Amino acid sequence: MDESGLSRTDLGLFLDLSATDPAQPDYRRLFQALRQAILERRVAGGSRLPSTRALSAALGIARNTVKNAYELLQAEGYLQGRRGAGSYVAELPELDRPATRSGPRQNAVERVESRQSAGPGLLQTAMPALDQFPHRRWQRALQHASTGGGLLAGDPQGDSALRFEIARWLGTQRGMQVEPSQVLITSGSQQGLYLIASQLLTRGDLVLLERPGFFGTEDAMRTAGACVSRFHQQQLEQVDDLPEAKLMVLTPSRNFPLGHTLPADRRLALLNWAYERELWLIEDDYDSEFAAGPALSALYSLDRRERVIYAGTFSRTLFPGLRIGYLVLPRVLVPRFVKVRRVVDGGLSMLPQRALAEFMACGDYSRHLRRMKRLYSQRRESLEQLLAQSELGQLPIIDAGGGMHLCIQLPSHCDDGEIMAQLESRGVKVRAISLYDEQCGPGLVLGFSADNPDSMARGVEALTTVLEPLLEQ
Ligand SMILES: Cc1ncc(COP(=O)(O)O)c(C=O)c1O
Repeated sequence: MDESGLSRTDLGLFLDLSATDPAQPDYRRLFQALRQAILERRVAGGSRLPSTRALSAALGIARNTVKNAYELLQAEGYLQGRRGAGSYVAELPELDRPATRSGPRQNAVERVESRQSAGPGLLQTAMPALDQFPHRRWQRALQHASTGGGLLAGDPQGDSALRFEIARWLGTQRGMQVEPSQVLITSGSQQGLYLIASQLLTRGDLVLLERPGFFGTEDAMRTAGACVSRFHQQQLEQVDDLPEAKLMVLTPSRNFPLGHTLPADRRLALLNWAYERELWLIEDDYDSEFAAGPALSALYSLDRRERVIYAGTFSRTLFPGLRIGYLVLPRVLVPRFVKVRRVVDGGLSMLPQRALAEFMACGDYSRHLRRMKRLYSQRRESLEQLLAQSELGQLPIIDAGGGMHLCIQLPSHCDDGEIMAQLESRGVKVRAISLYDEQCGPGLVLGFSADNPDSMARGVEALTTVLEPLLEQ
């Protein structure tokens, strides 16, 4: 085939073979080039193609190659062969061109994802200490699952052994009375949020979202066509002043990312208000496992009328690639959520679910969490010390302690989004507070959980290099 990839045959047929995939066999490349010529109307409908003999001679290729290409074009309806009378191009409708307009506006998640490359970075938020992950014990759990039913398809609601372990865990750790039949295993809590939005909202419904808050929540709600109104936790003092809404999403145990908590009086007032208005309260409990001291009780545990849906995740306690989270649902909602689960994907892979159930049942999960809680508290202290000893020591830390990240406040003239981008290019994956609420900040969310002393020191050094000139202004 012509190495240049461009062929003008002496038959008046111009074929751009360079636009075809060189890894494909020759007959496929010729088929693609001919189809392109037909679709672009360079060869008119009704016209006759050169004979296979003539085209193979003109292109210097085997006649069989041309024959195969013609056969494929005919099979797909681009040519109409008339036995003995040659191959004629079919009369085809013209394909609409895509409207030319600028691309859609990026939302916050897309902005972050397009800025932040995959792979770990220094001071990265929401990243567990993967260097401390108990690989051998996890492999043992996987092995156990592999020979213990993990190769079979399972219950769309989630593996019953895992649902049992989660219910037990929530009872002992979070003071929650949960039946395994109320637990729905999801692909991370992100999918849980999306399922809630798709099942409980109709287009135009109003949703109340805590500010600041995780942008994935807003995306899930907007994808379901909901309108979003945002509130600060302080506004729950006058809960009656909030607009009428279908559901509310909040992080009562630890605001994301600032870390403050919702006190008991506001929790109780909120529950009463939700009962009165028949509002669903979604409790996103994303990292209470690493609270400083004992974790606050879940809002769910105060609820007497099953208006709270609790969302939990293993992304932070184990590893983000696991993609296992869960919802604890009011009993009345279980059947419809299980039904949609069956329709959407038939349930998650059994193997990791079974392995996780085994990991929890044999005590490895709680052992790992106790170790990580101690480690993260030490790493948090180290980060605070490094910051205090650096030129950034004057920057206030706004955070309630514990967790996997802390926040620093920046002077008002700083553009935290721009700073985030600059740090990213140095391998530092902190996040701008304004990503979570444009009225909040400027400030930065600094992860400390995944960094050993060396990488943390490098992270703070890079942070100082970028921030110091801005602090002098
Ligand atoms: C507050 C909060 N909620 C929910 C999620 C979603 O977590 P996942 O889907 O990994 O379980 C995240 C992820 O970072 C988060 O920060």
